[in-house]
Amino acid sequence: MDKLTIRGGHRLNGNIRISGAKNSALKLMAAALLTDEPVELRNMPNLADSRFMARLLSTLGVDVYWPQGDSTCRLNAANISSTIAPYDLVRKMRATFNVLGPLLGRIGHATVSLPGGCAIGARPVNFHLDAFEAMGADIVIEQGYVKAAAIRGLNGAIIDLPFPSVGATEHTMMAATLAKSTTTINNAAREPEIIDIANMLKAMGAKIEGEGTSTIRIEGVDKLKGVSYAVMPDRIEAGTYAMAVAAAGGDVLLEGAPAAEMTSLLEHLRKAGVTASVEDNGVRIQRNGERLKAVDVDVQPHPGFATDLQAQFMALMTVADGTSTITENIFENRFLHAPELNRFGADIRVQGKVATVHGVDHLVGAPVMATDLRASVSLVIAGLVAEGETEVNRIYHLDRGFENLEEKLNACGARIERGADTE
Ligand code: UD1
Repeated sequence: MDKLTIRGGHRLNGNIRISGAKNSALKLMAAALLTDEPVELRNMPNLADSRFMARLLSTLGVDVYWPQGDSTCRLNAANISSTIAPYDLVRKMRATFNVLGPLLGRIGHATVSLPGGCAIGARPVNFHLDAFEAMGADIVIEQGYVKAAAIRGLNGAIIDLPFPSVGATEHTMMAATLAKSTTTINNAAREPEIIDIANMLKAMGAKIEGEGTSTIRIEGVDKLKGVSYAVMPDRIEAGTYAMAVAAAGGDVLLEGAPAAEMTSLLEHLRKAGVTASVEDNGVRIQRNGERLKAVDVDVQPHPGFATDLQAQFMALMTVADGTSTITENIFENRFLHAPELNRFGADIRVQGKVATVHGVDHLVGAPVMATDLRASVSLVIAGLVAEGETEVNRIYHLDRGFENLEEKLNACGARIERGADTE
């Protein structure tokens, strides 16, 4: 296993090009199952997670052409040879569960392993399954697998989500494109990735309206066609680098960063004393000398502050002037990074869903352990600010979601090296 060694205390200056959005790309890949025509995805992030989804799709019989280093992935699901997504592939990455809806919609049946929990919480899929049942699917759970069948196809239905779940909204929307009649999703999630997915589905011939609002209507069609589509830029990657610059100081243009989708974060950064300017080709982040001010964060579904940026903001607040309160309202166990950040000398106390961060003067480098994707990168941010050397172990979590992380940061003056883990 690899580890990263970071020499802290270097300011960041230059440009960072933002990659395609992981969370969108994974679902767009699954959407290729909805058509027997070729699907071309451009601006694809080359990540462990997206490569993993490609592997699962191949197992299902999808013809995948995606050379290493290429940002265009070609998928052709003309001949689906299996509708079974095995445990080994689904347990490693939750988003693979999202092949269920497209298979059900197009083929009429699928057997997909339940994803199980993960470090940040139980993460059930009951909303997904309730939606498919409401659309007429028969669902049984046997030996850890969801067996779903809708032999005469899915029907339109009214789906009232108990919580605006991103995954359940996307999954229901995809399956509903090929259902008979109209599906309405109430209390839908409003994340930008949902708009991205709807845009691609519409380019394939789907009839969708209301994406980006709390009510989405999907009128089923008989067939979807092939498409060439560019994945939206990754607002979480962009936000992460914004916080890296805010923490380390300097001046960096985040090329292609989707400012309109980053409003809540940029407002919080400005309150903390960071200059965040929206430019034609991205967002410029600047911080010179002045100590950051403590700012409270209340994590909420979009357009609120994103849970995927919470760990990174906490890392930033460890060295701010004053005390900040961070409330996590999406996942029940998403403070695993707090004890690791305290190893740098931070002062964070967690009680239930609230973390109280008392800003300290400085951090000191330490050996730390990555626990989940976004938590890992908060440790990198702490390492950039800390005095001396930091070792981040178990970085396979980072490789799941950040393309060329150390290359991008080192090009701006960071000192990060990849080496073999001590474990
Ligand atoms: C997606 C993102 C993840 C992000 C999250 C919230 C991907 C691949 N992942 O995850 O990065 O952190 O949105 O923005 O896109 N819930 C249920 N039952 C369900 C579904 C969800 O109880 O059937 C609960 C979850 O446990 C969680 C909350 O709803 O507490 C929100 O989860 P959800 O929005 O579904 O997150 P994901 O789609 O899994």
